[in-house]
This record gives sequence, structure tokens and C-alpha cells, in this order.
Amino acid sequence: MASQEIQIAPSILSADFSRLAAHAKQVIEGGAALLHVDVMDGHFVPNITIGPPVVASLRKAVDVPLDCHLMIEDPDKFIPAFADAGADWISVHQEACVHLNRTLHLIKSLGLKAGVVINPATPIGTLTEVLDIVDYVLVMSVNPGFGGQKFIPASLEKIKKLSAIKATIRTQFMIEVDGGVAMETVADVVRAGAEVLVCGNAIFGSGDAKLNTERLLKAGREANLVRV
Ligand code: DX5
Ligand code: ZN
Repeated sequence: MASQEIQIAPSILSADFSRLAAHAKQVIEGGAALLHVDVMDGHFVPNITIGPPVVASLRKAVDVPLDCHLMIEDPDKFIPAFADAGADWISVHQEACVHLNRTLHLIKSLGLKAGVVINPATPIGTLTEVLDIVDYVLVMSVNPGFGGQKFIPASLEKIKKLSAIKATIRTQFMIEVDGGVAMETVADVVRAGAEVLVCGNAIFGSGDAKLNTERLLKAGREANLVRV
């Protein structure tokens, strides 16, 4: 299997919001290729986080792509506002979109990378009809809503399945994984086929955020070299 480039996407959900720009800069210095922005509405998931104004502030502070993970109901209503604020990638949940094809085309029509996300209980098969539209698929390896949760091991099988499908179709999409990705799990997710690794607690939870990013990137790259 051809190896792909490993990218670390620190989730700012676990950062100190009063020092967001400083934290963002630290992880970029550590090699983060993009920043993962978790948007929660208190309806689709049992938590409320941030909206377009924070994305706009981050956009002024850093140059890397902003990967906005919308854990919200009726995302079509808010996608243009996130695009205006400076989002580069926008992902929506399969479970939250009645007209998923339309929503993904809306994201693409704004010139952004479009991603679809599936919860741990949602099978890969629900994505068959959109794999030729999306730029990336985000496999949730925890139930969305909170940072710092335990990685769900069954996610590895889903990533492997997706990776196998990817090898058989003409269009290409990236595989992103989100939830409980840390030094203990990074090699497994990469060997399964993930290439964009969202890490929150493992980067901002303890220690130095720059150093943590460097270590995760190194471990991810090493695992990528031995992928079969
Ligand atoms: C969960 C979020 C994740 C989360 C990741 O709903 O989508 O991005 O912040 O955090 P960790 O890496 O701590 O599981
Ligand atoms: Zn996320």
C-alpha cells in the first residue's frame, strides 16, 4: 500500500481559550499541519463550544488550514458563516444531514474541502454514495461531545475497511480520525490507514504542546513507514 503523508490536527477544544493564539502557534511550531476546530451546538451533541467569531480570530492569528468539525444540527444554515470566517475544511456528520449530498456540495461550492463524519455506531456503508464527492472522511473514535475520552478500539476496523475501499475507487479522499488519539494509539490508527490525526488531550492535556505535537508526528510518521 502506498504510504501517505501523516498530518497532525491539534484540537483546540483542549487548549486554554484565554491563550488560544499562543497555543495555536506552539503546535504549529511543533509541526501541526492544520488546526481542528470542534463546533458543538448542545443539540446534536451534549455540549456547547464555539462559533464563527472564534474561527475568524484564529484565521487572523495563524496561516495553517482551519479544519472545522461541525457537530451541529442543520449545518447548511451555518456553513456560509464558517466559510466567511475563514474555515478551509468543513466536515458535517452523516447522522445530522438529511440531504447529505446537498450539504457536501454546498461546502464545495464555497471553495472549501468537504468532509463527512461518522459516529462510532454508524457503519462505513452509509457513505457509499458520497465517497466520490468528499475530500475527506472523518472516523470518530469516541462518541462526539467531549475531549479527553477513551479511544474505541472497534474504530480501527472501520478505518481499515475505509482504507480498503479507497484502494478500489478512482476518486481519492483522505482518512481522518478523531478521539482518543495519543501516543498509545497513534501507531494503530496510522497502520489502519488514517492520515490526518486529530489530537486534543494528548497535545494540550499535560506537558508542552509543541513537544507533544512533535512526538505524535514522529510516532505517526514511523508507523506510516511500516504500514503494509
Ligand atoms: C470530540 C471532538 C474531538 C476531541 C478530540 O467530540 O470532536 O475533536 O476534541 O479530543 P481528544 O484527542 O482529547 O479525544
Ligand atoms: Zn473533532
